[in-house]
Amino acid sequence: MKGILLAGGTGSRLYPLTKATSKQLLPVYDKPMVYYPLSVLMLAGIREILVISTPDSLPWLRGLLGDGSRLGLEITYAEQAEPRGIAEALLIGADHIGGEPCALILGDNIFHGAGFPAILREAQQTLDGCVLFGYPVSDPERYGVGEVDENGVLLSIEEKPLRPRSNNALTGLYFYDSEAVEIARDLAPSARGELEITDVNKHYLKNGRARLVRLSRGFTWLDAGTHDSLLAASQYVHVIEERQGIRVACVEEIALHMGYITAEECHAIGVEMKNSEYGQYLMQIAQ
Ligand code: TTP
Repeated sequence: MKGILLAGGTGSRLYPLTKATSKQLLPVYDKPMVYYPLSVLMLAGIREILVISTPDSLPWLRGLLGDGSRLGLEITYAEQAEPRGIAEALLIGADHIGGEPCALILGDNIFHGAGFPAILREAQQTLDGCVLFGYPVSDPERYGVGEVDENGVLLSIEEKPLRPRSNNALTGLYFYDSEAVEIARDLAPSARGELEITDVNKHYLKNGRARLVRLSRGFTWLDAGTHDSLLAASQYVHVIEERQGIRVACVEEIALHMGYITAEECHAIGVEMKNSEYGQYLMQIAQ
């Protein structure tokens, strides 16, 4: 399965923070935001990852993540000239996807919870059409909302409904079979001028081939697109890390855990950053 990390957009709800940088490079407590979605793809066992971003932001993301080899990954980059919608990622990434299934994740989505790797593995193994991930929220009317039957088959998708049929907000993680690119090719831009990912999902839904995995309430899903949610995400990560002495979305630790890099390689990255607690943590876990 190929991975696409969509990290463009304007981040206008975060102005002036994002006037001169990418939202995805802003800190979520102790690491750049992009580490969080990257860690999800890594936990899914995906190693070939295309990062899509704006022409301005791509060099910065490349400076941070390089070709991925330090994490045992193959990271490549592509431009999205304008934020023309999430579904455009499937068109920009068509060559990268190369007729395989793919996982698409948005650069400002943060997932954290026990058992996530197993959930991701199961979703991959049973992929037939698309798999979306739903999360119970108190304010579903602010989100795309999915209604499911008892087998997890998606019955409806509603965008910001006044009277939501469920409280399952659709998150920014999507697993698609090899047909997604073709579906995206047939899309017309919406009234707001974007290729809408919900239209791709509705295509699968219409054919009865969309599944929704409901992330339980013991799980955490945050997006960090506003000042309040960015602060809340940082506070969440800080509390967990301080209390448990572990790091959330530490990509080097995941690479070590997945066997993509050796303990020596992990230690060497830690030494480069030894002035930070993050670097010291890498040295410690490597030992
Ligand atoms: P949004 O939060 O919808 O948009 P944004 O990041 O530009 O922020 P704002 O609404 O404050 O202007 O995007 C969600 C994620 O998807 C975010 O990580 C950016 C990414 N994205 C793209 O990379 N390209 C796009 O065309 C769109 C619509 C989003």
